[in-house]
Amino acid sequence: MKWPTKLLALAALPLALAQDSESSSNTKPKPDKDGKYWIYGDGLKASFIEYGASVSNLIFNDQYGIERDLVAGFDNATYYSVDKQHPHFGGVPGRYANRIKNSTFEIDGHKYKVKANENPTKDHPDGLDTLHGGPDGWDWRNFTVVAHTKNSISFTIFDPDGKEGFPGDVHSMITYTLNGRDWDFQMVALATTKKTPIMLSSHTYWNLDGFANNETNTALNHTLSLPYSGQRVGVDNILIPTGDILANAKGSVNDFWSKPKQVGASFGDKEIVGNCGFNCTGYDNCFTINRESLGNFDWRTEGPVATLSSDWSGIQLDVFTDQTAFQVYSCGGQNGSMALKKTQGTKKQRTIAKYGCLVLEVQDYIDGINHPEWMRKQIWGPEDGPYVLNAKYRFSLTSEHKKKPCSK
Ligand SMILES: *[C@@H]1O[C@H](CO)[C@@H](O)[C@H](O)[C@H]1NC(C)=O
Ligand SMILES: *[C@@H]1O[C@H](CO)[C@@H](O)[C@H](O)[C@H]1NC(C)=O
Ligand SMILES: *[C@@H]1O[C@H](CO)[C@@H](O)[C@H](O)[C@H]1NC(C)=O
Ligand SMILES: *[C@@H]1O[C@H](CO)[C@@H](O)[C@H](O)[C@H]1NC(C)=O
Ligand SMILES: *[C@@H]1O[C@H](CO)[C@@H](O)[C@H](O)[C@H]1NC(C)=O
Ligand SMILES: *[C@@H]1O[C@H](CO)[C@@H](O)[C@H](O)[C@H]1NC(C)=O
Ligand SMILES: *[C@@H]1O[C@H](CO)[C@@H](O)[C@H](O)[C@H]1NC(C)=O
Repeated sequence: MKWPTKLLALAALPLALAQDSESSSNTKPKPDKDGKYWIYGDGLKASFIEYGASVSNLIFNDQYGIERDLVAGFDNATYYSVDKQHPHFGGVPGRYANRIKNSTFEIDGHKYKVKANENPTKDHPDGLDTLHGGPDGWDWRNFTVVAHTKNSISFTIFDPDGKEGFPGDVHSMITYTLNGRDWDFQMVALATTKKTPIMLSSHTYWNLDGFANNETNTALNHTLSLPYSGQRVGVDNILIPTGDILANAKGSVNDFWSKPKQVGASFGDKEIVGNCGFNCTGYDNCFTINRESLGNFDWRTEGPVATLSSDWSGIQLDVFTDQTAFQVYSCGGQNGSMALKKTQGTKKQRTIAKYGCLVLEVQDYIDGINHPEWMRKQIWGPEDGPYVLNAKYRFSLTSEHKKKPCSK
């Protein structure tokens, strides 16, 4: 496979960083016996697999010094392609994350129909819309590991013209690096032959208690703060954007901006029913990250755009990103049938409960390709530079953020 030089140039930085110590680029990277590739930060370690370029384990010590594995997944890489539920555990949805209305979009007057894979009906047995790039989206495919060192791993994927109905070739490189207690990722994609929609994300299921909380099996007691998210993308009954950008009024169920609040804090409010689609209680919402009024800012320091923490484990996650939207899903679709990994749970709790996790996705406005009025840059062609997504997920203990007692 000949890789476009533009992509290689962009990838040069992470690759150069990746080639610092141990391994040299001419030895083929090796996974462990479970098919997982491990990388190490400082008090933080993580494993990744080729399937979906997914994060499979992410391990951080809680406030008692106990190792917690904070992400949902499976014990071995092989099982990801065996499991039929396919919950998109930790993968990179692509080439277009989230939903596409009616599985259609238009570029320069040409209408495209891509493969549907969600909300099947009698008249539309494959579905009414496309979710995460279609039935064989990127997170159903094996990426290629192109570099692996002690603290970094890079994956590539080639998505050919016509796959799932999308126009044009796309080359992409995903690089994950652990720097200290930060998980950094960069996703780069180039459309080399035709204009096409591109939007990527990391679809990771979090439980900051490592699914081992012995007081509750849900993540509803996690505290969430979205300080820039005074608005969200309005959706219909099947979570397809209507075009409306809605206000998250202060004190309403979707208000995580005026002050931090527990994810379950508004579950007694009648507005929470239907908040994530028809008769659905909870969250599956695209919050916008409104920072335009700041002028120029550095996404590495302007933030976090989201903070999630759990009092039980004392673990805090701060999210920094250059993206403008943040999807929060409260795992209402889990029902206790999905097994936990052996690194997780308690003797009693061996499965993921309803509301047992939170999916946090940095991305752009969902289905922006069907809403030109939002003026999002979501169609990428050979004349454009690369699509680039950057994010930094920072881990710490809540006790480190508590204000020191006032000396006076
Ligand atoms: C892989 O993991 C799955 C799910 O955790 C388990 O059922 C299966 O036995 C494992 N296979 C191997 C070879 O370890
Ligand atoms: C993807 O990789 C897994 C191992 O990580 C392997 O079991 C599976 O067969 C691979 N799938 C394809 C389509 O190559
Ligand atoms: C929905 O898709 C169908 C093709 O499956 C097409 O005929 C129709 O025009 C589309 N509707 C809209 C509103 O784009
Ligand atoms: C619950 O877990 C905490 C933290 O690991 C532990 O200190 C406590 O003893 C556990 N309680 C019970 C009832 O098992
Ligand atoms: C979880 O939060 C609810 C209120 O949101 C509270 O009633 C409950 O005691 C909390 N449970 C734990 C284990 O912290
Ligand atoms: C709505 O959901 C509740 C439980 O989640 C269920 O009992 C009820 O039948 C549902 N209503 C409809 C109209 O589907
Ligand atoms: C739980 O969810 C899975 C996956 O959606 C489904 O296959 C299974 O039938 C559900 N089980 C129950 C008891 O609802």
